[in-house]
Amino acid sequence: MSATDTGSGTSTGTTPGTGRAQPFAAPKGIPEYLPADGFVRVRDALVAAADRAGYGHIELPVFEDTGLYARGVGESTDVVSKEMYSFADRGERSVTLRPEGTAGVVRAVIEHGLDRGGLPVKLRYAGPFFRYERPQAGRYRQLQQVGVEAIGVDDPALDAEVIAVADEGFRSLGLTGYRLELTSLGDADCRPPYRERLQEFLAGLPLDEATRHRAAINPLRVLDDKRPEVRALLADAPLLVDHLSEASAAHHAAVKRHLDDLGVAYVENPRMVRGLDYYTKTTFEFVHDGLGAQSGIGGGGRYDGLMEVLGGQPLSGVGFGIGVDRTLLACRAEGVAIDDAPRVDVFCVPLGDAARDRLVVVAAKLRAAGVRVDIAYGGRGLKGSMKAADRSGARFALVLGERDIEAGTVGVKDLGSGDQDAVALDAVVETVAGRIHG
Ligand code: HAM
Repeated sequence: MSATDTGSGTSTGTTPGTGRAQPFAAPKGIPEYLPADGFVRVRDALVAAADRAGYGHIELPVFEDTGLYARGVGESTDVVSKEMYSFADRGERSVTLRPEGTAGVVRAVIEHGLDRGGLPVKLRYAGPFFRYERPQAGRYRQLQQVGVEAIGVDDPALDAEVIAVADEGFRSLGLTGYRLELTSLGDADCRPPYRERLQEFLAGLPLDEATRHRAAINPLRVLDDKRPEVRALLADAPLLVDHLSEASAAHHAAVKRHLDDLGVAYVENPRMVRGLDYYTKTTFEFVHDGLGAQSGIGGGGRYDGLMEVLGGQPLSGVGFGIGVDRTLLACRAEGVAIDDAPRVDVFCVPLGDAARDRLVVVAAKLRAAGVRVDIAYGGRGLKGSMKAADRSGARFALVLGERDIEAGTVGVKDLGSGDQDAVALDAVVETVAGRIHG
């Protein structure tokens, strides 16, 4: 992958010994994708899966009022307390580069009254998000997500649809080496008493100071401790899935039944911890085995209190965010071919200035007819230009020299078979467009 995460930030002055201006590097932890990387292919496959289920596109602002994330995502989360790119704009308002999409979607639904129409409101989005994390393979400071949110209907079948859309997005790319982990985080009836029960249990353990502190603030997070000695202590910890309210338990059972009906395999992970505070009931993560530490390729769940917290009516919501960067890495890990398709259908090879002048016009006319066309600029000669034509992935090369112009024809070469025929110059647009659109 040409994505770079080793950029060193601002550079100034000249490169010693050359007198040339010193080049810049992209900021640290920010990947970028070049045409052959397959980024667009992966992103669009994930988006297409959402489109097939009727999610409409929403283009969200890249920054919002800082308070939206503090209130929506939760002050105690790492995302809000440690990772936000926040700054005062020139009007002294505190704004934050979006760290995730759900809070922004809910804000937009409330602001535009989308929840006053038919429910659920189904929206999808794609684009960059920003978290000041320590960069490593698969963990970036600018990360790309495709997400969906379905707001206003508390139906377990909708949870299953959201999960199935993500699963279908991965499958449509040819991915198989991942698993879906599922749990329920309960609701306002069962979570507070469970939290107390867990805190009581944790208070009886010989935990270190930092972990005790964590237990006081967010005891659920302690359950996800990766250290073997802590894991051993937690073996008999009470689990929320065993203490769900009747409504949450019924919801959870129904989601699993729907997933079974849909043939979407899952494993239960009752110790799953998500990094955002808004989740209720259904919570899930897609985990890929070929990615090392940063194995979460997507995650999401239900957030039944978020609309109200952000000043809207008390409507439920459910959604996911898929990491496009990590999905791309997963494709590479599995050897799935994701190179972007050829960018042109036709490549023009002018031999001389007069030929170039003619082919520039032919190319413009073909483009207007819906054919993708590129030209060998710069008088490269036949050999170099034909190499460029092959590299372009085009189906046909149009070869024009002095003698062709005199004869009023242009050579149309099929780059697959190598066959070439002469087509009248004044009919070439129609002929080639016909062959392409077939
Ligand atoms: P999230 O789990 O924080 O959820 O992020 C979703 C996905 O984004 C992750 O599974 C991962 O693939 C990718 N991701 C997160 N951080 C990074 C990073 N630093 N570098 C690369 N990839 C990353 C959310 O953001 C929720 N808004 C999802 C959601 C939507 N829940 C309900 N609706």
